[in-house]
Formats: sequence, C-alpha cells, structure tokens
Amino acid sequence: MYKRQPGATAGIGAAFARRLAADGFSLVLVARDESRLAEEAGRLRLRYGVPVDLLPADLGTEEGLARVEARCREGVDLLVNNAGFGHKGAFLQTPVEDELVMLKVHCEAVLRLTLAALPGMRERDRGGVINVASVAAYFTRGTYSASKAWVVNFSESAAAEAGSARVKVMALCPGFVRTEFHQRASMDMSGTPGILWLKADDVARTAMRDLALGKRVSVPSLRYKVILNVGRLVPHGLASRISARIGR
Ligand SMILES: NC(=O)c1ccc[n+]([C@@H]2O[C@H](COP(=O)([O-])OP(=O)(O)OC[C@H]3O[C@@H](n4cnc5c(N)ncnc54)[C@H](OP(=O)(O)O)[C@@H]3O)[C@@H](O)[C@H]2O)c1
Repeated sequence: MYKRQPGATAGIGAAFARRLAADGFSLVLVARDESRLAEEAGRLRLRYGVPVDLLPADLGTEEGLARVEARCREGVDLLVNNAGFGHKGAFLQTPVEDELVMLKVHCEAVLRLTLAALPGMRERDRGGVINVASVAAYFTRGTYSASKAWVVNFSESAAAEAGSARVKVMALCPGFVRTEFHQRASMDMSGTPGILWLKADDVARTAMRDLALGKRVSVPSLRYKVILNVGRLVPHGLASRISARIGR
C-alpha cells in the first residue's frame, strides 16, 4: 500500500511517516529540501524496513504541485496533505505574494491532490485522505486561519460527497504542536503555557485512530476539544478581538 505525504521531513508530517512505516506501509515522501528528504527516507528504511520513495517538490509552485498531483493520480491508499507554514509578520506587513503562496500550499494543493487521489480510491473502494488544518480554523487569525477554515469545510464537503464507509476524508485540527513551525515563522512562543503543547507523534496516532473511526474532523486531545467548545459559547466579535490580540 502506498501512502503519500506532502510535507514529510519535519514535525507532524515526519510523525505520520514514522507511524505509517511502523505499520508496514510503503511511503512516498514530499518536501522541498531534497537532502533532508533523503536522510529521512534512509532512517525510515533502516528502522522499519519499508520501501520509501522521494518526491522533492515545492507545492507553492505550479510545476511542483503538478508533479505531486500526477503521482497521486497513479494511485495512493492514504494521502496526508500536511505541508504548511505560518507567516513571519503581522497581516498588514505580509506581502500579498506570500499570502498567495500560503493559499496555494494550504488550499489549492489540498484541493488538487485530494481530487487527484479520490477517484482511484473510489474505484478500489478503499482509501483515505487526511487534510491537516488547525484549531486556528475556528478563530480569526488572518489568512492562516482563513485557509485552515477552508480546509475543514472542504474536507467535510468532500467526505459527504465522495466519501464512503471505506473511502474516508478527514480534516485534522491540532492545537500547538512542538515542531519547527513556529521557529520557521519567527514566532515567539515563550509565553505559551506548557499544557497547550502537543507531541507530533500523539497527533499522528490520534489522527489515524479517528480516521479509522470514520470521523470527518479530528481534534487531538481533550484540552483542545474543551477550548473549541468553550470558544463556541463566546460571542463571535469578542472571540475575534481576543484572537487578534493573541496574534499580535
Ligand atoms: N505546529 C503547530 O503548532 C501546528 C498546529 C496546527 C496545525 N499545524 C499544521 O500542521 C502542518 C505541518 O506543520 P508542522 O508544525 O509539522 O511544521 P514544520 O515542522 O515546519 O514542517 C513542515 C513540513 O512541510 C514541508 N513544507 C513546507 N512548505 C512546503 C512546500 N511549499 N512544499 C512542500 N513541502 C513543504 C516542510 O519541508 P520543506 O521545508 O523541506 O519543504 C516540512 O516537512 C501544517 O499544515 C501546519 O499548518 C501545525
């Protein structure tokens, strides 16, 4: 069985790769950094003895996205759309070109790769798509949270329209996870309470369990389920102001 994972060399994607390799699946890893991809693949082959193919590609470019799309059309059993990033600056300081790359990676890539993978899955009557969104989807934090809200809505729609008991589509909504994400975006997270941090391996494990259970949206950990439910009780305008303040 082939599992394809855009964004597989660090953080949550690498945790998915370890988890799936441990379960004996063949992998196709996608990321931009070719040497890191090769190192990661070497580690996985050595430790788990599974075939691991590399597909270096930048999903923020038409050429990179088209190549990964073509590979998805050839057939995969599980697609994990994980590649993503945060911006370095505040909303008005972020160049529009950077916002458009975010939309390409977070939304266009998720759309095109899901559409490329699903027909084969439906034909074989088995398969799964995990689209990595975020709890940020439920708050207002610029283009990042808007793009993740799109991922949640899109995944639920795809699950309703094209899913079945054996072909599943799920949005994954983690809270803060200890990965390279915040450092890459130059975010100072020193004030974030320890209790809010999740481990990438726990997130991947919960995602695989929730996909097997047929959930359309997975929110790993009880603390974030509580935060989301309490958040729904707060008036929308107030929640937006709090989100914006935290963002600053
Ligand atoms: N960490 C959190 O707190 C958190 C919370 C909620 C949701 N998420 C979401 O989880 C996903 C994974 O984030 P992470 O925390 O694991 O971040 P990370 O540690 O920075 O890893 C990101 C991965 O995506 C790849 N990637 C980034 N841009 C890419 C592109 N244009 N084309 C191909 N691959 C690309 C990176 O490899 P290369 O750099 O080599 O391309 C890397 O393997 C993202 O969608 C993020 O929005 C993260």
